[in-house]
Amino acid sequence: MKDNFYIDVARESHLKYVDEILETIADAARVRGTGIAKRSPGYIIQKINEGKAIIALQGDIFAGFCYIETWGHDKFVANSGLIVVETFRGQGLAKAIKTKAFELSRKRYPESKLFGLTTGLAVMKINSELGYVPVTFSELTDDEMFWKGCQSCVNYDILTRTNRKHCLCTGMLYDPLRVKKKDEEEPKSLSVYKRWLRFKQSVFLNGNKKKDSNQKNEAKQESENGKSSYFKKLNFKFF
Ligand SMILES: CC(C)(COP(=O)(O)OP(=O)(O)OC[C@H]1O[C@@H](n2cnc3c(N)ncnc32)[C@H](O)[C@@H]1OP(=O)(O)O)[C@@H](O)C(=O)NCCC(=O)NCCS
Repeated sequence: MKDNFYIDVARESHLKYVDEILETIADAARVRGTGIAKRSPGYIIQKINEGKAIIALQGDIFAGFCYIETWGHDKFVANSGLIVVETFRGQGLAKAIKTKAFELSRKRYPESKLFGLTTGLAVMKINSELGYVPVTFSELTDDEMFWKGCQSCVNYDILTRTNRKHCLCTGMLYDPLRVKKKDEEEPKSLSVYKRWLRFKQSVFLNGNKKKDSNQKNEAKQESENGKSSYFKKLNFKFF
């Protein structure tokens, strides 16, 4: 499916889609009956001109969009405004657009934490696959300008009532340091696992050598019954 689409960083030649992008976003928000941070045409034009937007097209037909924003002096990056035209949904297009936006964000802001606020299950799924984890709002940027964007959302009163602690959206964060640490720890735990496996194998093999034929017969007989006291004597646990 994705082979039929152009999915890449939006360029000047894509500025003609700005109105359609905004209409599609606004229509989708109406249908969902959920809140949305309003964007002006000027804002989307700026994103495209700065090379901070991803566009998906099928031929000349607009199919999807997303852009990146930075907050807290570039400490945080958000991928926002994700939209896929209704007729193109359910084919993995949002995933492909978000993946491109993620790659662009990581390339341009390798030190920054990436985050998103969403009520949508699709976005939560995609974010999780990219390495985001759910967090409380306190882990997100404290940049007032970002939270100001929520003012145009129908649920803004919830956010203010809870002193910006909760709202209907879930906060998700990709912290490159946490991911790096996890990657570094993984080979260690892998080698622990390998050593444990080797130990287990050696115990099993040595144990086998030492057992007399009676025990072997006993094991054989009992394993045929589905459980073996021979293995129990060796204190083995099977998972
Ligand atoms: C949300 C949206 C972008 C998804 O676009 P899409 O191209 O249909 O999504 P994909 O096909 O890439 O699906 C990605 C994953 O989400 C799942 N998914 C898609 N739509 C879903 C939905 N409405 N509910 C639950 N899961 C959904 C898919 O099954 C897929 O999961 P999988 O990888 O486990 O199969 C699209 O429906 C849309 O534009 N909605 C309106 C605007 C919006 O909600 N934007 C998000 C604002 S945060």
